[in-house]
Amino acid sequence: MTVPHASLPLDPIEKASLDELRALQLTRMKRSVRHTYDNVEGFRQRCEKSGVHPDDLRYLEDLKLFPFSTKQDFRTGYPFGMFAVPMDQVVRIHASSGTTGKPAVVGYTANDMDVWASVVARSLRAAGARPGDRVHNAYNYGLFTGGLGSHDGAQRLGCTVIPVSGGQTERQAQLLVDLEPTIIMVTPSYLLNIADEVERQGIRRDQLKLRIAMVGAEPWTEAMREEINRRLNLTAINYYGLSEVIGPGVASECIETMDGPTLWEDHFYPEIIDPQTGEVLPEGSHGELVITSLTKEALPVVRYRTRDLTRLLPGTARAMRRLDRLTGRSDDMLIIRGVNMFPSQVEEQILSMPELAGHYQIEVSRQGNLDELTIQVEVRSGVEISSHRELSAELVKKLKAFIGVSARVEVQPSGAIPRSLGKAVRIVDRRKI
Ligand code: DLL
Repeated sequence: MTVPHASLPLDPIEKASLDELRALQLTRMKRSVRHTYDNVEGFRQRCEKSGVHPDDLRYLEDLKLFPFSTKQDFRTGYPFGMFAVPMDQVVRIHASSGTTGKPAVVGYTANDMDVWASVVARSLRAAGARPGDRVHNAYNYGLFTGGLGSHDGAQRLGCTVIPVSGGQTERQAQLLVDLEPTIIMVTPSYLLNIADEVERQGIRRDQLKLRIAMVGAEPWTEAMREEINRRLNLTAINYYGLSEVIGPGVASECIETMDGPTLWEDHFYPEIIDPQTGEVLPEGSHGELVITSLTKEALPVVRYRTRDLTRLLPGTARAMRRLDRLTGRSDDMLIIRGVNMFPSQVEEQILSMPELAGHYQIEVSRQGNLDELTIQVEVRSGVEISSHRELSAELVKKLKAFIGVSARVEVQPSGAIPRSLGKAVRIVDRRKI
C-alpha cells in the first residue's frame, strides 16, 4: 500500500528506545501517583488501608503494590470525587455510557485536552492519515468521548473535520459521496450499517474516496475487519480507548504492521492481571487490562481496571507494546450452561457464512433453571427466504463445534434487526426483564 506523504515526522518518543521510554514512564508515574495521592481522598484512603505510600514507588514494578481503581470508585465519588484539581481548572467534562447506574463523569484540564488531541492525532497519523485529509466523524458528539475527542485530534493533525455524529444514515451515505472524505471515524457496527445504506442507494465504490476507517468503541473481530474492508474498499484500523483513561486514542494500530493497537505508553502504562485474583500476570499472558495514566491532571487514574480482556504483545512498528485484539469485556461474558462465551465468538461464526450479514443480537432467557441462548441474525440482502432453515441449522452446528454452546438460531430477513447508530446492543438479557 502506498502511504501519501509517508515522511511526516513521528513524535520523538515514538522513536525512543525501550530504555528511554521506561525511564520517562518511571519519572511520570512517580509524579502522577503522588498527584493522585495528594488530591484524591478516596485513593489516599485506599493506599493507607493497603499500607502503601507514593515513596514506595521506586521501580515501575512497584506499581503492583498500589490498590486498583474501579468503575465503582467513580460511582462512589459521583460526580466529581475522582477529580484531582479544583473545578475552575476543568475545561471539559464527558461521561461514559453506563448501561446501569450512574455514568462515570470524567474531566480535563487545558493541558489534558492538549494531550488528548495529541494522542488522537498520533493515532490518525499512525493509521496513515495526513494533514489535508478530510475526516467524516460519525462518532456521537455529546457526553460520549468518541465524537469530540476524535474531532479535536483530527483537527490537531491538520485534517478537515466533518462533524457528522451518529444517525441519519441516509444522509451519511450521501455526504460520503458529495464531500469526498478520505477518512471515516466510526464504530464497527455503525460502519456496517453505513455500508448497507451505501449499497441500498446504489452508490458505486469508485464514488467513494474513503481510504481509512478509524474503528473502535466496541469489540469487533478480524472477520468484521475483512467484511468492512471488502465492502467499502478501505483499510479499517483498530482504534482503542476508554473514557476513564482519556477517551479514544489510548492505543491505535500502525498502518505499516496492522497487528493490534500500539499503546501510547508515554501517557498510559499497562498491566495485565488475573481478573479473579488481581495478581499481575507475566508479559504475554491473557487477562484483564489495567491502565495507569502518566500525565493526566484533572482525572489521574492509578491501576484502573478496564474490564477489557486481552494480552500485551511486544512492539513492532514502535518500541511501545501492542494490545492483542480484545476478546471482549468481562462484563459481556456469558456463561451458558457452564460454557463461557463472548459475543465476538458468535460474530466470527456468523461472518464465516457468506449468506449472513454482520447484524446480530444474542438473547439470553431462562427456561426453568436452564439458560437458553437465541441468536438473531440477518441474511444479506438478496438471499432467498427459503434458505433460512438450512442457514439456521448450519450456524447452530458451527456454534456447537467452535464455541461449545447449544443455541437456537433465528435467521431474519435483511433489515429486521435493530440497527446501531453508535455502540451496538449485542446482548439482550431477558432473564433480568
Ligand atoms: O468508547 C472511547 C472510544 C471512542 C474508543 C471512539 C474508540 C473510538 P467508553 O464509552 O468509555 O469509551 O467505552 C470504553 O469500549 O473499555 C472497551 O470495552 C470498548 N472499546 C473501545 N475501543 C475498542 C476497540 C470509548 N478498539 C470501552 N476494540 C472499552 C474493542 C473497544 N473494544
